[in-house]
Amino acid sequence: MADTGTHIEAAVETALGKLDLDAKTRLLAGQDMWSLPALPEIGLASLVMSDGPIGVRGVRWTADDPSVALPSPTALAATWDPGLARRAGVLLAQEARRKGVHVLLAPTVNLHRSPLGGRHFEAYSEDPYLTGRIGSGYVTGVQEGGVATTVKHFVANDAETDRFTVNNLVGERALRELYLAPFEAIVENARPWGIMTAYNTVNGTTMTEHHHLVNGILRGEWGFDGFNVSDWMAARDTVGALRGGLDVAMPGPGTVYGESLAQAVRDGRLDEPEVDEAVRRVLRLAARVGALADVEPAVPAPPAPVHGEALARELARRSFVLVRNERAALPLRPGRTVALIGAAARDARVLGGGSATVFPAHVVSPLDGLAAALPEGALSYAVGADPTTELAVADRGFTLRAVCRDAAGTVIGTGSAPSGQIQWTGTDLPDGVTHDSLHSVELTGTFTPRASGRHSFGIKGAGAFTLTVAGTTYFDDAQQPADVSDPFEAFFGSPVPRAETELTAGEPVDVSLTYVVRLPDGIPLKVVAFALAHQEPPRDPDALIAEAVEAARAADTAVVVVATTDRVESEGFDRADLRLPGRQDDLVRAVAAANPDTVVVVNSGSPVELPWREDVAAVLLSWFPGQEGGAALADVLTGAHEPGGRLPTTWGSLADAPVTRVAPSDGELPYEEGVFIGYRAWEKEGRTPAYVFGHGLGYTDWTYDSVETDGTTVAVRLRNTGDRAGREVVQVYLAPTEPDAGRPARWLAGFAGVEAGPGKSAEAVVTLPRRAFEIWDEAAHRWFFVKGSYEIQVGRSLADRRITATINV
Ligand code: BGC
Repeated sequence: MADTGTHIEAAVETALGKLDLDAKTRLLAGQDMWSLPALPEIGLASLVMSDGPIGVRGVRWTADDPSVALPSPTALAATWDPGLARRAGVLLAQEARRKGVHVLLAPTVNLHRSPLGGRHFEAYSEDPYLTGRIGSGYVTGVQEGGVATTVKHFVANDAETDRFTVNNLVGERALRELYLAPFEAIVENARPWGIMTAYNTVNGTTMTEHHHLVNGILRGEWGFDGFNVSDWMAARDTVGALRGGLDVAMPGPGTVYGESLAQAVRDGRLDEPEVDEAVRRVLRLAARVGALADVEPAVPAPPAPVHGEALARELARRSFVLVRNERAALPLRPGRTVALIGAAARDARVLGGGSATVFPAHVVSPLDGLAAALPEGALSYAVGADPTTELAVADRGFTLRAVCRDAAGTVIGTGSAPSGQIQWTGTDLPDGVTHDSLHSVELTGTFTPRASGRHSFGIKGAGAFTLTVAGTTYFDDAQQPADVSDPFEAFFGSPVPRAETELTAGEPVDVSLTYVVRLPDGIPLKVVAFALAHQEPPRDPDALIAEAVEAARAADTAVVVVATTDRVESEGFDRADLRLPGRQDDLVRAVAAANPDTVVVVNSGSPVELPWREDVAAVLLSWFPGQEGGAALADVLTGAHEPGGRLPTTWGSLADAPVTRVAPSDGELPYEEGVFIGYRAWEKEGRTPAYVFGHGLGYTDWTYDSVETDGTTVAVRLRNTGDRAGREVVQVYLAPTEPDAGRPARWLAGFAGVEAGPGKSAEAVVTLPRRAFEIWDEAAHRWFFVKGSYEIQVGRSLADRRITATINV
C-alpha cells in the first residue's frame, strides 16, 4: 500500500519540470506554523501538518476545534499490541482527514534512556524492539488511512534539557542497536512517508544537517523514500541543511529555505539538482496524500469509519498495568462501597503537555466513570491531596472571550476563548484581525468559583499585561519569563502569580487580562501566546488527608488516584526527581493505614516512585489514559474487563536507576552506558527495580506447558488456568548461554498476544528476527551475527520466565 506507484513517480517528474527555482524553494519552506504553500500552477494544494501523537490537533490551538484524545504513547506501548496501534493509526487518519491535515507529526520513537526524560509519556519504551513494533503498527494504520506520518525525532532526542544545542555523544554500536533501531524497523515494516529530524546534535553534527545519518543510513542503507521535515525551528543553515538531507524547513514564514535557498543556488553555493531532490520528495508526499491534482493517491478510498470514543476506551483498558494485586483486591467484589480519593480522580490528567496537547470534546474522569458504573450510594469522594503546586490555565468556572484591538483601542475582532489560553499560531487569528493591525488582546468574562476562599490569578507569557479581577487592577506592567532558552517557553513556561482575592462559591465576578501583543524575540514566527492562570483557595493539607482517611474508613474499598502534573511531565524540560508531587505519598500511607483494602491508581505518563507500594492491596498504572480514561478505569475496577497492559519500561527508584543523566556539561551529553539502558542496565548492575520490564497481571492465571523452536520460530503452548477468559502477552527473551560482558544478559526478541477462555489452551507463535542475534561491529562498521548457544526464555515478564529451550545457531 505504501509503495510508490510508477504513476506517482511519473507525476512527480512532470510537476517538477514545470517549476522554476523560486517556486521550488518556496515549496520547501513553511508558509506559516503548519503548512507549505500551494502551487496552483501544478495543481498542488497546500500541504498541512499537525501534531500528533495521541490525536490530531489541527491548525488551531484551541478547544474550539476538538479532537479525539487517545491514551499516551506509553500506554499504547503497554498494550504490547501492534494491531491495536494500527487501529489507533486508522482512527488518527480519520481525524486528520476531518481536519484537512495531510501529515501527522508522529509517532515519537525516541527511547526512555533516563527516567528523568520529561517527554517520555510521548515515546513508547526503553526497548528498541518493542518501540519498533508498536511504531510500525501505528504508521501502518495512519497511512492506510491515506495520511502521512513523520517518525520523530531522528535521532537520539531522548531528553529535553538544552534540546536545541545538546551534543549527544553516542557510540556507533548504541546508535545502531538502540536509538536507530526503531526507525530502521519502521522504515522496513511500514514504509513511512516522512521523518522529522531532531533539534539536537549527534556526535558533533546537528541532526538537520546530518548527511551521514540521513543520506547515508536512513536513505542509503535503509531505502527510506519519504520526506524529511525539520523539527520546529531546528533548521539553522541553508547549505548545511540541504546537503544534510533536509527537505522541508518548518515553520514559516521565515526559514533557512525559500528565498535564502534560491539565493544560495544563484550564488553557486548549491546546485539546482540538489534542490530538485528535495522537491521530488515533497511532491511524492503530495501525490501520496492526494494533494496533487489528477494523481490517484496511495489510498484512493478511506477505510471504514472508526468510533473514536469506543476505541479510546478499549485502548485505555488494554493499556492499564496491574502491577500488584494482593488478596485478589481487584476486581472489586459486587456490592462493595468505594471511597474514591485524589484530585486527579475528579480533575483527570488525561494527556501530557507540550506539542502533544489536543483538546478533547469531553473527558471522563475516574469520578465520572465510577459514578456511572457503581450503584447509587456506593461511591464517595474526597480530594485527599492537591498535587498542583502552582497556577494552571484558567478553565473550570471561567466564561471568557478574546477581544482584539488596534493601536487606537478600536475593537477589530472577537474570538472565542474556551479556556484562558490563547495560542494563535499565525493562521487562526479571529475574523477581520491581521498581525499588522492587532495591538492588544483582552481575555474578558466571568469566573464563578466552586469553592469560597482566597483565589489566586496569574499570567503566563512575556510582554505587557493588565490583570483585573472583580473591579480591582492587580497588575499593570511587563513580565518576562526567567528562562527564555527555549523559543517555545511561552507554551511550556510557568505562570506567574499576580493577584489574590477572597471570593465566594457560586458568586460570579468579572475578570479581564489584557496583553499588548509582542511577537517572540529572535523567532520569525507569528505566534500570539499567553494565558490567564488560576488556582483554587489552598486548603490545609492535613485536613484534606484527614477527610480522605475518614472516607476510606467508612467504605469497603479505598481507591486513591495519584498523579503527576504538567509541571512534572511535559515537553520542554526534564524531571528533577521521580517523586509524586505534593503530599500524595503521605495521603496513600494514611489511607492504607485506615483501610487495608486500598487500591492505588497511578495517573502518570512515565515512572514515578511508589514508596508505599508494599503497604497497599493493589497498584494499577493508568498512564495518561486519554479522554475515556475514567470509563475504562471503571471497566477494569469492576471487572467488566481485565487490565491488559504490561510494562514497556522498568519502574524503579531514581537512586537505583543505572542511567539517569540528562544534563549536558559544556554542551555535551555522553551516552557513556553504551548499549546498557533500561532493563539491560538494571540487570548488568544487579539491581532490582520496583517492577520489571514486561510485568503486568490480568484477572486470570496462566501455565506455560511447552515451547518448541527451530531457532527461527518459537511455538509456545499455554493454558488459562483461572476461572475467566483472559489475554496473555507471551514474551520471548534471548539469552546467550555463555555470559558475555559486552552484551546484555537477555533482551526481548519477540512477543505475541493470545486469548483463551477458562481452562482452555492457546498457542503463541513468535518469529525471531535475525537482528536479535546480531550486534553492530564498530571496527568493521557492519552487523555481525553472533553464532553460538542461546537460551530462549519464554514467560510473563523479564523476571517471570516460565519455560526455556536452548538453541545453537
Ligand atoms: C516538537 C515536535 C512537534 C513540533 C510541532 C516541537 O517543539 O519537538 O515534536 O511536532 O514542535 O508542534
